[in-house]
Amino acid sequence: MDKKIVYSAIQPSGSLTIGNYIGALSNFGNLQEEYDCIYCIADMHAITMPQEPKDLRKNTLDVISLYLAAGLDPEKSILYIQSHVPQHTELGWVLNTISSLGQLQRMTQFKDKSQKSKEILAGILNYPVLMAADILLYQTSYVPVGEDQRQHIELTRDLAQKFNSRYSDTFTIPEMMTPKVGARIMSLQNPESKMSKSDSDVNSYILILDSEDDTRRKIKRAVTDSVGEIKYNDEQPGLKNLINIYSSFSGKSTDEIVEYYKNSNYGIFKEDLAEVVVEGLRPIRTKFKEIREDKEYLEKIYRDGAEKASYLANKTLRKVYKKVGFIGR
Ligand code: AMP
Ligand code: TRP
Repeated sequence: MDKKIVYSAIQPSGSLTIGNYIGALSNFGNLQEEYDCIYCIADMHAITMPQEPKDLRKNTLDVISLYLAAGLDPEKSILYIQSHVPQHTELGWVLNTISSLGQLQRMTQFKDKSQKSKEILAGILNYPVLMAADILLYQTSYVPVGEDQRQHIELTRDLAQKFNSRYSDTFTIPEMMTPKVGARIMSLQNPESKMSKSDSDVNSYILILDSEDDTRRKIKRAVTDSVGEIKYNDEQPGLKNLINIYSSFSGKSTDEIVEYYKNSNYGIFKEDLAEVVVEGLRPIRTKFKEIREDKEYLEKIYRDGAEKASYLANKTLRKVYKKVGFIGR
């Protein structure tokens, strides 16, 4: 590998939303020409929240198929499943030994998730350390993710710096890469909160794999405001979010969209938006169906991916083990 490394992962903890698509997945394909890209399905992260085993298996294969349907080329990028590469947990352990409990407890996602559950599980606390291991194993330069991951990337950089200064230069310090528009797509029912596949209200999100009818219906029902004018500002957060979605799918700037719809009403804007989203997702939905049915093809891809990823991960892990003073085999 001689180009800079791009690394990202998505958890197979449910069906992916257009938030995942806009914030992360849709950017992955373009990066393949310029960088050596590694994309992971983070099943070990997914089990930090309760998962039905058969759903986890299904969702894992769904996410690989979506990666491929969204244009990732296994000849150019490495696609693999996290649990197939044991070096992640091995490096994760070493990084845990230099992680500050206070810093982990201050992570917003830890606070949110532990407030929602009866029992606070250690996996949720250590989740960002495993994420740091994912990234650092591959000497990653750039991590394309949505805005919600900023704190985790900061922690990764801190851990890399801490290790490097304690034991000498070992890890590349990674940087976050976010899309200009759409790094944080909001719920269609409550524009104050992030669009999330774990939301209990199905109308709050659009899944990449929703039917075209459901997609149209959910956009029609999306919460707006009583201002009645198409403008892009924080006083109209529902509308602002819809304009962001429009912009991400059409490639038009938010200014162009506002200019075009300035004399229209919300109904017309929403109808057009629904078409833009449906058209944008159609090729992915069609390709997904073909790929998902081909079990052998999928198996070949994740097996090859795990082999390539393990080779790279092992190079870093050997260095780490030597530096901390473990005796080599
Ligand atoms: P997750 O589903 O939490 O594994 O997230 C996978 C990727 O999608 C990460 O890069 C997230 O930052 C991104 N993502 C998730 N939800 C959103 C959202 N509502 N808006 C933008 N990006 C998102
Ligand atoms: N925590 C990320 C999320 O919820 C998923 C993830 C796991 C990830 N490991 C990663 C993202 C490494 C980027 C790099 O979205």
